[in-house]
Amino acid sequence: MPTELILDCDTGVDDALAILYAAGQGARVHACTVTHGNVPVEVGTRNTLTVLDLAGLSTVPVHAGASRPMAQPLQTSEHVHGRDGLGDAGVSTSSRQPAGDLAAVEIVRLARERPGKLTLVAVGPLTNIGLALLLEPDLPALVRGVVIMGGAVGVPGNASQLGEANVWHDPEAAQLVVDSRWDVLFVGLETTMQAPIPPEALRRIEASTDPRARFTWAIMQHYMDLYEPTLGLRSCIPHDALAVALALDPDLATYRCIEAYVETGPGRTRGTLVGDLRPFAPPPAEPSTRGVIRIVDRMDFNTFFARLLESLGA
Ligand code: BDR
Ligand code: CA
Repeated sequence: MPTELILDCDTGVDDALAILYAAGQGARVHACTVTHGNVPVEVGTRNTLTVLDLAGLSTVPVHAGASRPMAQPLQTSEHVHGRDGLGDAGVSTSSRQPAGDLAAVEIVRLARERPGKLTLVAVGPLTNIGLALLLEPDLPALVRGVVIMGGAVGVPGNASQLGEANVWHDPEAAQLVVDSRWDVLFVGLETTMQAPIPPEALRRIEASTDPRARFTWAIMQHYMDLYEPTLGLRSCIPHDALAVALALDPDLATYRCIEAYVETGPGRTRGTLVGDLRPFAPPPAEPSTRGVIRIVDRMDFNTFFARLLESLGA
């Protein structure tokens, strides 16, 4: 049975990889919902439509959502993903229109329609998911699972010293997610930064004539320009695709349960996902307890990259 997904994204470069991965691995994507984040929501919406068309998923509806965070001004990350969010490669050309209903409303509608069936995957700021939780307090009982690309537990941040972008862009929404009674997996920088795309995989993407690989190679150049000095090699991090991979195949990793909260006060630690990593902390009883999250312990990156290449036709 294919995994049934709602994919909430802010489509920049690694979100595009996540969509291509989901399509290539046979996920049943019921909808993509879009939030502000890497780029303004209307830009992310057009990018999402473009990538779905390329992936052969042009019947998947796309719902635009939150245009700003709950309690702070909009900040976007064009320096990471390019002015158009897809590496300024001139490829975001879809003329398809988004569906009428707003993202949070559609998340609630689909979850009610298919109780216990859908995995909610969020790879952008968590505003749409937070709004859906406010609209439908029973959302945690209606979804099968929740996988989020977000956080930097015990490692440096990327949007601030300790803050990872998706949590930092909307700390109040992230706290709503952490505070809900559901089994939520945060795939954070402590995992994703271990997985730069290997040089051999990049050579295969560059050499492939598959349209998905050509597109990926084009949009990745700007993203690799950004990552190259940090990584010390010309590569980049496929953050969001790693989260989708674990939503589709949880056996690719082992996990640990920790207590966590989001710093929502003013100051330099605002937007930090703080996890209790103390070895002597009592293990939290249930993953679906308020304030308890799962994080990745170890992940099989080799299998992930093999599946990523397959999904790109490389
Ligand atoms: C996350 O932030 C965005 O730049 C990426 O798309 C990813 O979702 C990584 O911190
Ligand atoms: Ca993203």
